[in-house]
Amino acid sequence: MMNRICLGLASLWTFSSVALANSTVQDLMRQKLESAHAILDALALEDFTKIEYHAKLLKEISHATTWYKADSDDFRHHAKSFQNSADYLAEQAKLRSLEGASLGYIRVQLDCIECHKVVRAAKKAK
Ligand code: HEC
Repeated sequence: MMNRICLGLASLWTFSSVALANSTVQDLMRQKLESAHAILDALALEDFTKIEYHAKLLKEISHATTWYKADSDDFRHHAKSFQNSADYLAEQAKLRSLEGASLGYIRVQLDCIECHKVVRAAKKAK
């Protein structure tokens, strides 16, 4: 099954994510969307613990999907950039900086959009 995530990714267990490990790329992306929404909620409520949790979860999910187009430089670049943005967001949440976390959230969202642009272009080129 191409879309099955390898169970062997040790980092997944950080979030006791049996569900993550058994998910398709589509499921994982849906989870990303949920976390992105949760972060927006948490920003409105200044719930930094929740922001940090979801930023770290986003990074874990991204790690779980890097195999997907591991042969594409563009995809790897965007996955890395997304992970860096998620790190930045988690860091700013830990520092309790609302401005920093807001910027981190925007960075994460731009990375979502950029990567999908690349994925769509690659699909069209086939
Ligand atoms: C590094 C690349 C990359 C990043 C970053 C990324 N995605 Fe995706 N996304 C994908 C790929 C690949 C697919 C699957 C496309 C396909 O169906 O072939 C996808 C599909 C999706 C889908 C459609 C799922 C479905 O049901 O078909 C959603 C929703 C989604 N992503 C949300 C997000 C959100 C929200 C973020 C940011 C928080 C994000 N993605 C970041 C690569 C990425």
